Amino acid sequence: MYTLPRVVDDAEKWSQLRDKLKMLRLKSLQVNPEAFSSTYAEEVKFSNEVWEKRMTNPLALHLIAVERFSKTESDLPAEEISALLSGDWLGVLVLIGPKEDGTVSLHPSRSPGVSSSSKPSLSSPIDRENASMPVYELNAVFVVPEVRGLGLGKKLVDTITQLGISSAKSQGFRAIRLQVRVDADNQPARMLYRSGGYVECKVETLASKEKEKDGVKIPSTMKTCIVMERLEELS
Ligand SMILES: CC(C)(COP(=O)(O)OP(=O)(O)OC[C@H]1O[C@@H](n2cnc3c(N)ncnc32)[C@H](O)[C@@H]1OP(=O)(O)O)[C@@H](O)C(=O)NCCC(=O)NCCS
Repeated sequence: MYTLPRVVDDAEKWSQLRDKLKMLRLKSLQVNPEAFSSTYAEEVKFSNEVWEKRMTNPLALHLIAVERFSKTESDLPAEEISALLSGDWLGVLVLIGPKEDGTVSLHPSRSPGVSSSSKPSLSSPIDRENASMPVYELNAVFVVPEVRGLGLGKKLVDTITQLGISSAKSQGFRAIRLQVRVDADNQPARMLYRSGGYVECKVETLASKEKEKDGVKIPSTMKTCIVMERLEELS
């Protein structure tokens, strides 16, 4: 598991990392279009600048699962960039935060036509009074189909959760809310996050208005998603 650096001095290596990220993300949108809020058709048109903006976003941490050819960790390239460039990318998970709960949109990138409304809570042991707690949001998890069911998704979730906790500690936060939105129909993802200690706490209905794109009418859609959270007290 390696995190993507936000700055790389070597322009050639930087472009290679960008292209690998782009390929994996586009693959996820092609293979599992139902799991994500944007589409392959939209993102395939993104310029290099847009992909690089994602990579340099100071609030975003990209965790990448890289194919390992050797059985021992010590045989891996010691340097993060060499490791990222030398193996196939098998999975990704993005952590975005810290965001201030309640004051910053959790989905600033979501298109303006999308609105959300909350339904009453599912069973939740989470203290709802901690409304101003910083939020770290987990986004866009994807494992390539060839290696699913082998524990890679779980490793991505566990690793990024620990990275979020470390980042929050180093910034002096006393408690954080780790959060993820999962499509209600996406059982594998719901089970994955449950196994990582996330609790289903809220149902949201996301409604997108009818829109027109390249002269084609795209009908309005309704999606039900589950907000899953893990509350961490940091002492
Ligand atoms: C969800 C996803 C990342 C899981 O990755 P994975 O590497 O197969 O997951 P793991 O092997 O680490 O499994 C971890 C846990 O997830 C659950 N899980 C994974 N696949 C599952 C499936 N097909 N059905 C039910 N539960 C499943 C299990 O609880 C499993 O724990 P267990 O092995 O103790 O039973 C993968 O299926 C995927 O990329 N799906 C498409 C993208 C997607 O849906 N993203 C979610 C966006 S919110």
